[in-house]
Amino acid sequence: MCGIVGYVGSQSAVPVLVEGLSRLEYRGYDSAGIAVLSAKGTRVFRKVGRVRDLEASLPGRIAGKVGIGHTRWATHGPATQDNAHPQTSADGRVSVVHNGIIDNASSLRERLAAQGVKFTSDTDTEVIAHLVAGSEAGTLEGAVLDALSRITGTYAIAVIDERRPDRIVAARNGSPLILGVGDREMFVASDLAALVRHTTSVVHLDDGELATVTSSEFRTFSRDEENTAKSPTSIDLETDDVGLDGHQHYMHSEILEQPTSVERMLRGRLDDRFGTARLDGLNLGPRQLRGFRRVKILGCGSAYYAGQIGAAMIEELARIPADAEPASEFRYRNPIIEPDTLYVAVSQSGETADTAFAVREVKRKGGQVIGLVNVVGSAIARESDGGIYLHAGPEIAVASTKALTHMAIGFAMLALSLGRVRDLSISDGQRIIAGLRSLPGQILQIADDEPHIAEVARDLAAAPSLFFIGRVRGFPVAREGAQKFKEVSYRHAEAYQASELKHGPLALIDESLPTVAIVPDDELTERNLASMQQIAARGGRLVAITHPGVAVGALAAASITVPKNEPELDPILLTIPLQLMAYHAALSLGHDIDKPRNLAKSVTVE
Ligand code: AGP
Repeated sequence: MCGIVGYVGSQSAVPVLVEGLSRLEYRGYDSAGIAVLSAKGTRVFRKVGRVRDLEASLPGRIAGKVGIGHTRWATHGPATQDNAHPQTSADGRVSVVHNGIIDNASSLRERLAAQGVKFTSDTDTEVIAHLVAGSEAGTLEGAVLDALSRITGTYAIAVIDERRPDRIVAARNGSPLILGVGDREMFVASDLAALVRHTTSVVHLDDGELATVTSSEFRTFSRDEENTAKSPTSIDLETDDVGLDGHQHYMHSEILEQPTSVERMLRGRLDDRFGTARLDGLNLGPRQLRGFRRVKILGCGSAYYAGQIGAAMIEELARIPADAEPASEFRYRNPIIEPDTLYVAVSQSGETADTAFAVREVKRKGGQVIGLVNVVGSAIARESDGGIYLHAGPEIAVASTKALTHMAIGFAMLALSLGRVRDLSISDGQRIIAGLRSLPGQILQIADDEPHIAEVARDLAAAPSLFFIGRVRGFPVAREGAQKFKEVSYRHAEAYQASELKHGPLALIDESLPTVAIVPDDELTERNLASMQQIAARGGRLVAITHPGVAVGALAAASITVPKNEPELDPILLTIPLQLMAYHAALSLGHDIDKPRNLAKSVTVE
């Protein structure tokens, strides 16, 4: 979703801004733009389409060492050049880039229009540019504060002003914003990815905080103009490791990287002797872990499905009631927060607005939240009381793959920790640990089957609509399989509990609607085979995702067999062929796999 980059220093700003924007491309966007302060005033360039289209449209040399840039994902108004950011004041003096949504934009527009302001875009952001330019405060900081006092909503903004050509003023409320501290140069960005080429020293702004950056210093302050005196922290250079590694797409690279990334995640975290996990970051001792009577997992989209896989693991291994709920709905139902419930926020980006709001709702009501988060130092990681970092490394493709596998493994480790202070025996704990250790090798075996999976996928891609079915442990696997398939292939894919088919959806089954059935070798195999029978009897075509020895026989037109692990961990492996299947379906359809239409990597708006 929208990205921000800002530069002030001794280099020419344009290449820094363009390179920063291209590093933010993975977040998803539909237009891009930059504004640079030059001796001749502010020069603004905007373009619908890719950053490379913007770059190609720029004149040869644009002098200027201070500038801001943006990739926009349309919210207010369509993706047009006029709606792209930066947005400027009527006289062109003030330029603003903005992520987030200004809730009272329409009433402010009406008021400003009544005062004679002419709007040139449909955006909520343009309002900010006019408010800053219209402020009578004597400083840019004062003018930004004035503007912010009149708006409600979420934002990360960076503002430049021809009258103060030495600085960028930035502010954050609900959308991520980071300062990068360099040697005689400073950066502003919505995402670490835009900074890693230039500096490893960063300052995370908090909600309600503002900052001024000049080439030699930065200052952070509150809305009451009190200095907040932040010190820079060092970021992990692993963040820069975002190459395609010989693959055509990030999604493919990220799926096939899992044997290595999973091994890295597990390193040092498994305690064979006591059959448990070592999770120091949880900040919870055995007594506190024993005190929880319930676990509530909150996440969005695929992270929510990973949460459902996790809830099943926690119920099975720790025997604590656990469930997952879409974080996007949570705060709207005025949830009851219980002191003996452990709330778990799960997020790859750590910046998903809906999940961050859910965390705040829990904390406001006195609940205890831990985060299962991939991006170190992200908002959800910082706002949680403790957590488990996923260590999946950067995930660029919009369709999440390795991060979900890591989430499920994180939940398995949490289930071990909760289980071993309850009734989970040492030997059962050790059984799960052995299962976790087998995962990297077993994922490699699945990857070896890629040509077969690709063939099945190409066949499925021809169908306009598909079902994915599973039962109990297999149901979140089916949901995630359908989610991945629809995200990148744009095919209608719907997940059902296999048991629910006969209560309605079976009416849709015919030869044109294939079903992908999750059929693990477990206590429900017979029931799953019975569901397949019901589909086959109605002429439905079936693809089974199954284990060695399961007699899917003639019921399935094709089957993909994954190695068997412990029953509680099987969902992790059953999900992986579905990732490859979605990838190859999209590949055969010629889609933009890493940046599917209409989607963004980090959904930082409500
Ligand atoms: C996954 O493929 C999706 N792009 C999406 O559902 C994603 O999982 C969701 O938006 C949550 O993102 P997060 O993990 O960064 O919070």
